[in-house]
Amino acid sequence: MTQHHFPESFVWGSATAAYQIEGAAHEDGRGPSIWDTYSHTPGRTLNGDTGDVAADHYHRWADDLGHIADLGLDAYRFSISWPRVQPGGSGRFNQAGIDFYSRLVDGLLERGVRPVATMYHWDLPQELEDAGGWAARETALRFQEYAAGIVGALGDRVHTWTTLNEPWCSAYLGYASGVHAPGRTEPAAALAAVHHLNLAHGLAGRVVRELAPSAELSVTLNLHVVRGASDSAPDQDAVRRIDALANRAFLGPMLDGEYPADLLADTASVTDWSFVREGDEKLIAVPLDVLGVNYYSSTLVRAWDGVSARSDADGHGASTSTPWVAAENVDFLPQPGPYTAMGWNIDPPALTELLLRLQREYPSQPMMITENGAAFDDVVSADGRIHDDRRIDYLRRHIGAVADARAQGADVRGYFVWSLLDNFEWGYGYDRRFGIIRVDYDTQVRTWKDSAHWYQRLAATGKLDSAQD
Ligand code: FCB
Repeated sequence: MTQHHFPESFVWGSATAAYQIEGAAHEDGRGPSIWDTYSHTPGRTLNGDTGDVAADHYHRWADDLGHIADLGLDAYRFSISWPRVQPGGSGRFNQAGIDFYSRLVDGLLERGVRPVATMYHWDLPQELEDAGGWAARETALRFQEYAAGIVGALGDRVHTWTTLNEPWCSAYLGYASGVHAPGRTEPAAALAAVHHLNLAHGLAGRVVRELAPSAELSVTLNLHVVRGASDSAPDQDAVRRIDALANRAFLGPMLDGEYPADLLADTASVTDWSFVREGDEKLIAVPLDVLGVNYYSSTLVRAWDGVSARSDADGHGASTSTPWVAAENVDFLPQPGPYTAMGWNIDPPALTELLLRLQREYPSQPMMITENGAAFDDVVSADGRIHDDRRIDYLRRHIGAVADARAQGADVRGYFVWSLLDNFEWGYGYDRRFGIIRVDYDTQVRTWKDSAHWYQRLAATGKLDSAQD
């Protein structure tokens, strides 16, 4: 065993998202989002599950804040449901929705917990999708208006404003492979969505700067650790191509102020990127106080030989359409285990690698892990407890990987476990449980898993015993 000691200033938190936990889909004036439509479309989610009730957090928020306080967490990352606060995605705001988040934020502050609010965790108002969704530039402008409404209402009571959660998923899973809402399979629309999400980030980021100057600004990206099957030039070119689509399509405009030239060249057969207007890239590059990094597993690629069976696997459900636009010559290889219940490989050193890469490329950019965690098939034991040793092991190894990166100079300031509660895991519905707190969906009773007790001790002491591999 080695022991890592995190400083007192290191932020321990947990994360959730509105559609995954709130339920109350039709209450107090909430409008429909693309996830309501998608989950209610037969065949889209496992077992036809929807977020209609979810973990009923909309009604149980005060108890849930009690759990956060009992866990001794410094921060809580939640998302604001756009259709709850602005039902049609433009114009009129819904005061009841704003009041809900206002109570939540005040409740966190009363308990000494930092509110970290994500403006967009995938629940686009359906009306905006009907008008073109993220493929339309107008959606980014609507997002700016929505941001002004919520930042105006909650302002710097929110410690950290996060514009977007994982725009990679919104764009490529939503518009290319279609395994997420809105379920479209249009590669050119996916690349337009990449840009309009980036633009939305820049516009909303500037709103935060203007209306809540003392709040911190961030964005959360699910950056991919892409490795090649060999050092050969074709395999390394496959790595470069996927890195451009997955990582640099966002890091480029957000942190460097421009799209990488190789991304534009690689995708020229799909789009000419004429949706990028003069001045957009500079606008997107609003300085960030902290970059949010979500990490779960790694990616292994090679150049496809054109003969053997080729895989597009990205860990987000089967589709006949690929999320990897213009990457037909790339083969995604199965990874060595062990795996979580999502089928995602467990690879903690890749997290260290990722953080060190970011530190090298963006040396002055502080970072935070805004999601990391694991789904396993939890069992409630005869004693009523959930002995989720594999989840504890996953968390221990990944938090150890963060410590390793910090020891080598990575400026990582916090860690948010995904997730506080079991919840609606998108296309996999309620079948996959990521919570450190179990939710019994029949009774809505919350039960701390062993991982919750473990995380409580870690947050209290900052001391991590990390198992040697
Ligand atoms: C991330 C999402 C989050 C959750 C985890 C497991 O991609 O941001 O909502 O579903 O995966």
